[in-house]
Amino acid sequence: MSVIDGLSDDIIEKIKSAKSVTALTGAGVSAESGVPTFRGDEGLWNNYRAEELATPEAFERDPSLVWRWYDWRRTLLAPLKPNPGHETLARFEQRFDKMTLITQNVDGLHRKAGSEEPVEIHGNIWHTQCISEGTVRENRETPLKEIPPRCPDCQALLRPHIVWFGESLEPAILNRAFEGAEKCDLFFVIGTSGMVQPAASLAGVAKRGGATVIEINLEKTPLSYDVDATLLGLSGEALPEIEKIL
Ligand code: OAD
Repeated sequence: MSVIDGLSDDIIEKIKSAKSVTALTGAGVSAESGVPTFRGDEGLWNNYRAEELATPEAFERDPSLVWRWYDWRRTLLAPLKPNPGHETLARFEQRFDKMTLITQNVDGLHRKAGSEEPVEIHGNIWHTQCISEGTVRENRETPLKEIPPRCPDCQALLRPHIVWFGESLEPAILNRAFEGAEKCDLFFVIGTSGMVQPAASLAGVAKRGGATVIEINLEKTPLSYDVDATLLGLSGEALPEIEKIL
């Protein structure tokens, strides 16, 4: 018995005939690679207080504490590998005429799997930003030699290039995400609890634009009421199953 057995003939037809596909991923797509999710029993926000670690105020108060937390996460992420869910989404770029991958994840695993230009709406844990000049650079050092790290050009503090609670998403990135949702004929929403805006609204945008919307998650979410089908299962199994019917 496969996760996709519950799909109606009509939806299978929509999947097969899709030309323009958009996928939105959340922490669940990386869970099978060993990345902790944010919510749920083992979720990061169960053990750490977001307001003490992932806000601009927390960084202003204690940049070293914030960086120690990100350094711990980076060290945990460094050896992890993409799983079949990431890999299938990367192959979708060859399979469909147009494929837009939007991710809330900062772990960089979609890029590691070969996705060309994921729209990383919450940033990337492997990028730093100078708080004075705004310059964004890749930085893969684990553990960091200096905490908090400083800009090699001007010695100002570097921050993780991540969108913190209370901050706005970059307008250009947000536009790419909304355009991807508006202009597709098939939209996947994968491994996200649908609790964080504006990402959570993208499935609704896609649906109102006429797309078939398919959710993949271990459990039902608030988004489940607004999608055409929910596949209950591991994304690393469901996505390769979908690929087989293409
Ligand atoms: P959450 O931790 O809120 O939700 C993870 C979702 O993945 C849950 O609905 C799980 O049921 C599901 N899940 C877990 N393992 C799965 C698997 N193997 N296959 C399929 N589904 C699985 O993570 P997000 O929704 O991504 O923000 O959280 C959104 C944002 O909140 C994050 O980007 C982060 C956080 O605060 C920032 O860092 C800015």
